[in-house]
Amino acid sequence: MDNRLTAERLRLDRGKRRLIDDVSLTLDAGEMVALIGPNGAGKSTLLRLLTGYLPVRFGECRIGELPLDRWSPETLSRRRAVMLQHTQLRFDWQVESIVAMGRAPWGKKQEQDIIQQVMALTDCLPLAGRHYATLSGGEQQRVQLARSLAQLWQDDGPQGWLFLDEPTSALDLYHQQQLLRLMKNLTQKGNLHVCVVLHDLNLAALWADRILLLHQGKVVAQGTPEEVIVQPIIEKWYGAEVRVESHPDRETPQVFLMQ
Ligand SMILES: Nc1ncnc2c1ncn2[C@@H]1O[C@H](COP(=O)(O)OP(=O)(O)O)[C@@H](O)[C@H]1O
Ligand SMILES: [Mg+2]
Repeated sequence: MDNRLTAERLRLDRGKRRLIDDVSLTLDAGEMVALIGPNGAGKSTLLRLLTGYLPVRFGECRIGELPLDRWSPETLSRRRAVMLQHTQLRFDWQVESIVAMGRAPWGKKQEQDIIQQVMALTDCLPLAGRHYATLSGGEQQRVQLARSLAQLWQDDGPQGWLFLDEPTSALDLYHQQQLLRLMKNLTQKGNLHVCVVLHDLNLAALWADRILLLHQGKVVAQGTPEEVIVQPIIEKWYGAEVRVESHPDRETPQVFLMQ
């Protein structure tokens, strides 16, 4: 099965502004791709187009051979899950019920074993019984991740496309590392394909196989972390004064702000 996700010449205008400007990209199965870029670059908007949350009017987006709008909503939701930047819920449900919502595309029965497994993977078991609205921002992010993994669970693990919009923005150091290690392990097994918007360039450099840098709705740089996280590129597109050095344990670039 061709699992590749391909976007060709995507464009999105809102009023007089062009939010996404001629973006073409390919996401390969089994890779972890990070989308980076300054505030307002269009990362969240692009993610919405790639996942079908916003209709593609100009250009095309396909999973395999089939354009997104030709997938039935049910089949699509079994193949791709999305964790948006802000998730507001109308009901104040318990954590387990939110995670169980991820199983909706698969029928009525609540597979307790799957729910327990994804909660364990995301460190949500200590949150069992709590009401979602009473959780901290970081705890809510972990619950949303668990829900997304539950949505893609087949047989013995998640399969398909997982899109995450700044999933680590409210996480403490331990949970940032846990989330990115988990995503890396799952993609390396070959069945999960991850596209993640990351604010933190150092996290992107450490864990992504490939990085796409967005600026004013355009992809202005892409490649391996070593190719993209370099001083001239970061200074040019972020406008910040930085130094880039290797991580002490490996060749991966890490960014330091100049005082
Ligand atoms: N519905 C909309 N109408 C007008 N402008 C929008 C809309 N949605 C987003 N924008 C603007 O598009 C730009 C990109 O937004 P966004 O994709 O959220 O950026 P990022 O996630 O990279 O920070 C921003 O300048 C934002 O204000
Ligand atoms: Mg955003």
